Amino acid sequence: MPVGRLTRTAIFCLSFIALCYLLEHSSYARYYRLQDDIPDASSIAPLKTFSKDKFLWDSISPSDDLVWHDCYSNNQCARLKVPLDYKNPDAASAAIAMVRIHSHVSHDSPSYRGPVLVNPGGPGGSGVSFILSRGAHLSTIVGPEFDIIGFDPRGVARSTPGVSFYKTRAERALRFDTPDGTRVFSANASADGLSRGWALGTLDGQLAGERDNGSLRFINSDHTSRDMLRIVEADGFEKLQYWGFSYGSVLGATFAAMFPDKVGRLVIDGVMDSEDYYATEWSKNLYDTDKTWMSFLNGCVDAGPSGCPLFAPTAAEISAKIDDLYVSLRARPIPVRTETSSGIVDFSMLRMRIFRALYSPYAAFPALAQALADLSNGNATTLFKMGEVPPFECACDASEYKYEDHAEAGAAIACNDGNQISPKYEDLLVHYEKLSKGSDWADIWESARMTCLAWPEFPKDHFQGPFIANTSFPLLVVGNTADPVTPLWAAKKMSKGFAGSAVLTQDSPGHCSLSAPSMCTQKHIRRYFFDGILPAADTVCNVDGTPFPSPGLDNVDQQAQAILSVSEADRNLMEAVWELARTFDVRFPTFV
Ligand SMILES: *[C@@H]1O[C@H](CO)[C@@H](O)[C@H](O)[C@H]1NC(C)=O
Ligand SMILES: *[C@@H]1O[C@H](CO)[C@@H](O)[C@H](O)[C@H]1NC(C)=O
Ligand SMILES: *[C@@H]1O[C@H](CO)[C@@H](O)[C@H](O)[C@H]1NC(C)=O
Ligand SMILES: *[C@@H]1O[C@H](CO)[C@@H](O)[C@H](O)[C@H]1NC(C)=O
Repeated sequence: MPVGRLTRTAIFCLSFIALCYLLEHSSYARYYRLQDDIPDASSIAPLKTFSKDKFLWDSISPSDDLVWHDCYSNNQCARLKVPLDYKNPDAASAAIAMVRIHSHVSHDSPSYRGPVLVNPGGPGGSGVSFILSRGAHLSTIVGPEFDIIGFDPRGVARSTPGVSFYKTRAERALRFDTPDGTRVFSANASADGLSRGWALGTLDGQLAGERDNGSLRFINSDHTSRDMLRIVEADGFEKLQYWGFSYGSVLGATFAAMFPDKVGRLVIDGVMDSEDYYATEWSKNLYDTDKTWMSFLNGCVDAGPSGCPLFAPTAAEISAKIDDLYVSLRARPIPVRTETSSGIVDFSMLRMRIFRALYSPYAAFPALAQALADLSNGNATTLFKMGEVPPFECACDASEYKYEDHAEAGAAIACNDGNQISPKYEDLLVHYEKLSKGSDWADIWESARMTCLAWPEFPKDHFQGPFIANTSFPLLVVGNTADPVTPLWAAKKMSKGFAGSAVLTQDSPGHCSLSAPSMCTQKHIRRYFFDGILPAADTVCNVDGTPFPSPGLDNVDQQAQAILSVSEADRNLMEAVWELARTFDVRFPTFV
């Protein structure tokens, strides 16, 4: 614990003597001894940083029954065999990898409530990785009576068949050779920005077709919905209990529309317009992005010079500083060398770093403000490090990376799910110009559908809507007022199709409810899962704190105050909610 922090905690304790015991003895205090005040760049590092899996998935043979094996430290893992093609169930099979956090009550106990399946978005996000890192907190929220199951959707990471456009890891690394670990760049970075994107996207689609061994066409949300039903049934239940974030809202809506009688509990959180997604339009995501950006600017003003390194008295002045940075980086990118890598900070990287930070205000706003302030002073290192990935290294043993997470899986799901789009540059340009009229962030977002430009023409005979159903239990639909990529509008629209569903609004910036700490929201979610009670119409939940530290309080003090202000019974929940907000980072889409 830094000395400054010690002193502040001491002063804080003196003013709340009775509560000192709590600060000293709760797991909260133990936890924060290990942490820095402000989340650093690594808390929002890209998903693509892959470290060797600590569990040998090949030690499990896929089986028709759900067989759980001990794995990682305290979890159980399984690989469930399912048909690769549900229209042809006796032919080849797929194997779905999953990890479980066991309920805290015994499965024999009358209070045991079965599994909740979770999808972390993407498309292409790994549910196994998500549950290994965040599952304990989700379990605290939904409650000890439930198991939490994270699964890798078919095509993704540890599930088979995988998706690969490249023959080797090295070939992939060469194509993604940027300090971001992604190949996304601003379409507005240069005069040929959009056409370069078009050419690279076309190449992706061509490779996807050429390197397909026949399994690629079965990687879609229709099949994954069927896989989810298989998981639930293999686990001994009839109906699905589910919490899906971001793209997970498309998967949830798809399941609910395909199997309305199999809905036990279903939460979609950070909701995308499924019709727009299945049309491969990606044109209705950015309605609230400017609101999120304004919350950064206004938050910085409110935090004052001590809370926000980029402080200026008005939002307009801060915005002008950023515009200056855009102009200056366009003219002169800055070379950066760190202990582990090197690269250039240019206009595209600045745009990407800002856009990504909008997803996770509580994890990223203070760090972003520091990075932008440093950049204004000519130091680009902080911004570079915000998303730095270690340079590619050849593996001695390629099998170590057999189940590596990579972006192609997400592209495959999105392009297979969606309608075929025109391969022509002229049509892409029309799409881009239209998107640009509605949003300042079209230059980044346009890349979301470029991999689909020359996508192989598979039959589109899978479920693509309509998203209308009388479900066996009503859906809970959660949206934030300033979500950068899934606007509240879409939550309201999707809710209309599902009879009896309720929209819960969280008044916060960020992508999905967990990107901001709200006891109100998470208690509603727990109440929905446990008691089956939906929030009243037009319920709006506030959040418990601000992304930037309030003047005079650092982040930790602010969290301490929030946690100490709730009853002991709520304390674990509050800790989980804050910890998630500090680390929540659902990539959407994974290839951006
Ligand atoms: C087809 O390719 C995928 C992706 O590389 C792989 O996971 C799968 O095992 C392959 N299937 C067959 C039958 O070779
Ligand atoms: C591209 O950048 C220029 C200069 O920064 C800006 O004026 C313009 O609005 C941008 N265009 C789009 C479509 O984002
Ligand atoms: C730039 O900022 C980084 C991180 O904040 C710091 O470690 C480094 O010393 C700075 N470099 C220069 C040249 O000031
Ligand atoms: C839902 O139920 C209502 C009332 O029974 C009926 O009118 C409607 O057609 C049903 N909708 C669907 C999609 O089945």
